[in-house]
Amino acid sequence: MYTSKITGLGYYVPENVVTNDDLSKLMDTNDAWIQERTGIQERRHIKKGDGNSTSVMGVKAATLALERANLVPNDIDMIVFATLSPDMYFPGGGVEVQEMMGMRTIPALDVRNQCSGFVYAISVADQFIKTGMYKNVLVIGSENHSGGLDFSTRGRSVSVIFGDGAGAAVLSRNEAGKGGILSTHLHSEGKHKDELALKGPSTGHWVPQIIAENPQEDIPYYPVMNGQFVFKHAIVRFSEVIEEGLQANNLEVKDIDMFIPHQANLRISQFIQHKLKLTDDQVFNNIQKYGNTTAASIPIALTEAWEAGKIKEGDLVVLAAFGSGFTWGSVIIRW
Ligand code: ACO
Repeated sequence: MYTSKITGLGYYVPENVVTNDDLSKLMDTNDAWIQERTGIQERRHIKKGDGNSTSVMGVKAATLALERANLVPNDIDMIVFATLSPDMYFPGGGVEVQEMMGMRTIPALDVRNQCSGFVYAISVADQFIKTGMYKNVLVIGSENHSGGLDFSTRGRSVSVIFGDGAGAAVLSRNEAGKGGILSTHLHSEGKHKDELALKGPSTGHWVPQIIAENPQEDIPYYPVMNGQFVFKHAIVRFSEVIEEGLQANNLEVKDIDMFIPHQANLRISQFIQHKLKLTDDQVFNNIQKYGNTTAASIPIALTEAWEAGKIKEGDLVVLAAFGSGFTWGSVIIRW
């Protein structure tokens, strides 16, 4: 049995900065409300004509991650691509990355687990490496939210939260007992699927039906979110799954050197930090700059923390996420 180790990290965000004041010109909102409720000061949005898309941003993040892993595209044995905002309904982003990066005919798998997408994708990649089937797996989380949000006042409670961007990690085979990913823990609870969802276009809300109904109020092609319900569940599940991961490895909260939460909302991260009694040095947040980038948020934050020298060899790094589905999970890493 092997373990997998993160050997390369990269991220990419569009250049176009959108501040809270910019949003207040499109809808009835303001900087104070957004900062107080979410901690977000600004986010990045793809700009028409800048060449970006979910897959293109994924490739940019992946290119950097590969360089840092000292690998070339032909060294990659598998792509796992996490997104809720693919360029096309089908096929998925994984095959676009395979084509754009000129890779061999390796497997390309798309993961549809929203905010938990990157944690799920890491877990999938980890299994393929642990068993010895593959040596190097490229994991990408990328989102183009701005292309699909309601920027009128009707959509303000959702659209101010999300931003665009991509992050990537290369997982490589490591000898067992020499660190790397210690364990991953995944969960779901589908009974809450309607609390944070985008219902169409899909076979349940197919395009002719959407056009025929011409809905004025209940528009199924914009995301809906029961914010307070999501918040309450997030803080419980985040804490549970972190504890589950620590216990599985006979570790305690005090052993954590760096906790990278999915950047859902700064208030959620602060609540968990407080609940677990983590110091400011043990937690990394960057939602203030990028908003919630869903599947991209953990790899962007992980890369920034690593670039800033906040993660060193031998550190215990914990990733955790919660989101639509509901789904949630954690990853425990000895760096
Ligand atoms: N600007 C100004 N006012 C707004 C905005 C806005 N952007 N959005 C909503 N409001 C108004 C509402 O209309 C409401 O007005 P009313 O009292 O006149 O009816 C008022 O603000 C309060 O609305 P609430 O929805 O009760 O506000 P709340 O304090 O719950 O904050 C928020 C909303 C930020 C979404 C919060 O519920 C939350 O953080 N939930 C967690 C969900 C989350 O983080 N989701 C991220 C994605 S999921 C994930 O990644 C886990």
